[in-house]
Amino acid sequence: MVQYSYIHIPFCKQKCKYCAFISYVNLSFIDEYIKALIFEIKNTYKNEPQKTVYFGGGTPSILSYGKIGEILNCFKFEKNPEITVEINPENFDREYLKGLFNIGVNRISVGVQTFDDEILKNIGRRHSSKTAIKVIEELKNVGFKNISIDLMYGLPDQTIEKWEYDLKIAKSLDIEHLSTYGLKIEDKTYFAKFPPKKLPNEDLQAKMYEILLDEMKHFYHYEISNFAKNENFISKHNINYWNLNPYYGFGASASGFIKNKRYKNQDNLKKYILNPILKEDEIELNKNDILEEFIFLGFRKFEGVKTLDIKEKFGVDFEVEYKNILEKYEKTGHIEKTKEGFRLTKSGILISNYILCDFIK
Ligand SMILES: C[S@@+](CC[C@H](N)C(=O)[O-])C[C@H]1O[C@@H](n2cnc3c(N)ncnc32)[C@H](O)[C@@H]1O
Ligand code: SF4
Repeated sequence: MVQYSYIHIPFCKQKCKYCAFISYVNLSFIDEYIKALIFEIKNTYKNEPQKTVYFGGGTPSILSYGKIGEILNCFKFEKNPEITVEINPENFDREYLKGLFNIGVNRISVGVQTFDDEILKNIGRRHSSKTAIKVIEELKNVGFKNISIDLMYGLPDQTIEKWEYDLKIAKSLDIEHLSTYGLKIEDKTYFAKFPPKKLPNEDLQAKMYEILLDEMKHFYHYEISNFAKNENFISKHNINYWNLNPYYGFGASASGFIKNKRYKNQDNLKKYILNPILKEDEIELNKNDILEEFIFLGFRKFEGVKTLDIKEKFGVDFEVEYKNILEKYEKTGHIEKTKEGFRLTKSGILISNYILCDFIK
């Protein structure tokens, strides 16, 4: 049964200089897109009660709450589903936020990125830090009890002091969840074409990550880049990805994972609108691909990889099969044993990409 859905809204008012996500600034296609999206859902979704629905982007908050409600009406739900909408800080009127709340959205992820106005301008964001703070306050006034923010580190001109300031403000806002992202210069972005000056180097990014761990000690660090106020506020939607359970991906460029098949919808907006159920890519993963992905994703989580899970799902004895690698990193202090398996230590997290490559055969 597939009980998790991701819905991609590929529109933004302006393209941020670092962003490689599929999003279009021509908003005149929105109505046609929503029709195509609803067509895709109605022709794919098998009426399973959903545990989570996640509207990501692009900028889902570009849609009226009526349109978001129309999309939600395509689904059946489990009791207490988690329904998330990503929003970009703007001068929303309270009616809009109240509208989202009233249609059943109960988790909001706000793309704050930084509270430094100069940096916001230089990375191509349209909002100020003041607007971001105001939106978070308004969301609380309207009744939202599960608010997450995205913060980025390693941004051009960002210093340790500026990053500490961002974390201080984030902590003062009394939010329930924080997602963090180290800047990556992605192909075909503005920053790839015009590399920014004064970009923090890898060491400085690593230092910023260490500061993050220190500053967020009071939160549950449940995944490499994600922190929740407590266990009740971990993102159920994202945990499902990291547990490699099935999910639908609806909309242009969205990916899904169903019955060991990973599929990806068409990126191109016009092509997607013409044929929303045509897949751009579809690959069946073999048992070993899935095992490796399961290990890879498992190590991203605080709880790490559970040996019993690996035994049950793949019939593999994790400790025996990966003995050499596990021993190597246990000796260097990058991996540690837990009651149920193995996880990365703090120093392991800092070089996680390097360690995880070793588990791929
Ligand atoms: C799906 S994206 C966009 C969400 C929303 N449209 C926004 O901009 O606030 C989710 C997050 O990915 C992060 N992100 C996007 N591009 C990135 C990059 N090149 N390097 C690091 N983080 C990135 C940003 O923090 C962003 O909020
Ligand atoms: S970061 Fe968000 S707002 Fe900026 S272009 Fe990407 S999806 Fe759009």
